Amino acid sequence: MGQLVRGVVARGAGKPVEVVTISVPDPGPGEAVVAIQACGVCHTDLHYRQGGISDDFPFLLGHEAAGVVEAVGEGVTEVAPGDFVILNWRAVCGQCRACRRGRPQYCFNTHNARQKMTLTDGTELSPALGIGAFAEKTLVAAGQCTKVDADAPATVAGLLGCGVMAGLGAAINTGGVGRGDSIAVIGCGGVGAAAIAGARLAGAATIIAIDLDDRKLAGARQLGATHAINSEGLDRDGVVSAIQQLTGGFGADVVIDAVGRPETYQQAFYGRDLAGTVVLVGVPTPELTLELPLIDVFGRGGSLKSSWYGDCLPSRDFPMLIDLFLQGRLPLDKFVSETIGLDDIEAAFQKMHHGDVLRSVVVL
Ligand SMILES: NC(=O)c1ccc[n+]([C@@H]2O[C@H](COP(=O)([O-])OP(=O)(O)OC[C@H]3O[C@@H](n4cnc5c(N)ncnc54)[C@H](O)[C@@H]3O)[C@@H](O)[C@H]2O)c1
Ligand SMILES: [Zn+2]
Ligand SMILES: [Zn+2]
Repeated sequence: MGQLVRGVVARGAGKPVEVVTISVPDPGPGEAVVAIQACGVCHTDLHYRQGGISDDFPFLLGHEAAGVVEAVGEGVTEVAPGDFVILNWRAVCGQCRACRRGRPQYCFNTHNARQKMTLTDGTELSPALGIGAFAEKTLVAAGQCTKVDADAPATVAGLLGCGVMAGLGAAINTGGVGRGDSIAVIGCGGVGAAAIAGARLAGAATIIAIDLDDRKLAGARQLGATHAINSEGLDRDGVVSAIQQLTGGFGADVVIDAVGRPETYQQAFYGRDLAGTVVLVGVPTPELTLELPLIDVFGRGGSLKSSWYGDCLPSRDFPMLIDLFLQGRLPLDKFVSETIGLDDIEAAFQKMHHGDVLRSVVVL
């Protein structure tokens, strides 16, 4: 049975993506089929298509999505047909050592649909992050569907499914930014800009945006940055002293590295105040290494943290953030740079590569 729909597939490393017909099975036990309404283009989709994540081609790309549940399989109680949902890549298991200790946001055994979507010749597809939402419909585990207020436009809601949640959560959840804090964010793409919006939401008093691109800094100011530093041509000490000058000479309480390179991590490490917090949310490539004097790691105190998916718990965070958006307190709509069709993903990758957009969002 199942049904045939259009989806965007990457067939091999570096090859342009193709819009093809895919087969989506009817939902089995614990599964749901979701009619996708919007799906953002994330850097991770480009990593998949370049072969940087795994060799399990063909991939069904797209993972930052919102839509309406069309059908659910046996035993599904958390969502029902007609529900407006955001798809998540953290369907918590409830059983693993993290879940059992009451820390489901770190769940080490998240799950996806058991059945496979396929090409029409039967070739199994690997859905990006277990989602695969550059498609008219997709099959996921029911736990990957988080119901939110249907008044939110899908273009906006879908963004919480990945990058924007990662940035908001890096500030709010991992960094624990609070009222009156000073914070600096290095790299103000979709993720860093969301960290800035999160810091404002949390009541930070000083919010410093750092990027090499003035367009990104202008966007960051719109989302709540109180200061902006263009770090092009600055060495580590130059960036650190610019942060210190804006924080009474001390450094920021929390510095978020939304780039993920040794040089930006060092800026974050030395740009924070004594006993401050570094949050690494940018994803480094495997060959990168970091060298720091151990005495500085000790002597500066504080905490060095990494943030996976903003340490979010979708069932707790997605509905709350959508409510704040609907109340006009979180400008998620500012992250949508353009809306595009399924045929425009390659062009969107180019724009992302050139830094022209925060988010291109596919509308179906
Ligand atoms: N931890 C997670 O769960 C998670 C989730 C989603 C994405 N990410 C990662 O977050 C990172 C950022 O993603 P994005 O979508 O915002 O990417 P992006 O390409 O939109 O933004 C990156 C920004 O960093 C700036 N930049 C690059 N080098 C810099 C430097 N040396 N100093 C200052 N700024 C610099 C760029 O100008 C750009 O504005 C990526 O590594 C991505 O893989 C992590
Ligand atoms: Zn678990
Ligand atoms: Zn993503």
